Amino acid sequence: MTDNDAVREAVRLLRGARRVVISSGAGISKESGVPTFRDAHDGLWARFQAEELATPWAFERDPDLVWSWYMYRYELIKQVKPNPGHYAVAEMEDLFDEVVVLTQNVDGLHWVAGSTDVVELHGNIQRFKCSKPCRGKTAYVYLDTLDYTTETAPPCPHCPEGGVVRPDVVWFGESLPTWAIERAYTTAARCDVMLVVGTSGTVQPAASLPSMAREQGARIIEVNPQETLISRFAHVALRGPSGEILPALVTAYREENV
Ligand code: APR
Repeated sequence: MTDNDAVREAVRLLRGARRVVISSGAGISKESGVPTFRDAHDGLWARFQAEELATPWAFERDPDLVWSWYMYRYELIKQVKPNPGHYAVAEMEDLFDEVVVLTQNVDGLHWVAGSTDVVELHGNIQRFKCSKPCRGKTAYVYLDTLDYTTETAPPCPHCPEGGVVRPDVVWFGESLPTWAIERAYTTAARCDVMLVVGTSGTVQPAASLPSMAREQGARIIEVNPQETLISRFAHVALRGPSGEILPALVTAYREENV
């Protein structure tokens, strides 16, 4: 299938769809300058794997190392902007009755681009909380109110148990928020089309959403420059960067549906 044939096929699958889900991963933010997790890296953090740092055990063992890594990503994400891929996803709300974004990304860029229904499965890096069940409940911490450095995890200002501040993201070995995973399963089960954008499909439970949607009758469109573990569930694969493919898909859809 040529690239044009693939886009035409994707438009055909989208025609008549009412409920569309976008399941996104780190690849959609790559063109905004946010590094993905599993592509080759260079620079300061290249020798660390996400799986080694993004765990409660790593944080317990060396909170300052994990804090520094998140501060590096936090500072970077504060400066980036959505790219045409995020804007194309937001624009899809004009084209279909229901568009839900299920994202593994913690950068908040779908909100910034204007999407109005975003489920952040892995949390948000710009939100912080106590590392302990501070006074029995999650205690959120506003970083701007703290005296902190990017090298040392600061103490939680509320905690009687000596907890420290951590990002409100889901680490390996932790559960996703119940409301988020329930929403993800229900929207995946009832969508007409799922676009799976910029994820390697290696991390559960997000990785199983496309096969689950397909079993319930949804059409699956993958947008990724590489073949992935999701590809075998896809009815059509659009190979290329999402910042180019998604706007082209929206334009082609509009042209065929005027
Ligand atoms: N456009 C679309 N996809 C791209 C682009 C691009 N411009 N560039 C790279 N990709 C693809 C890669 O081919 C790869 O398949 O994005 C994918 C990124 O995969 P990962 O780095 O594994 O990211 P993701 O799937 O989101 O990781 C899932 O793992 O470390 C955890 O919690 C973290 O949410 C993250 C989860």
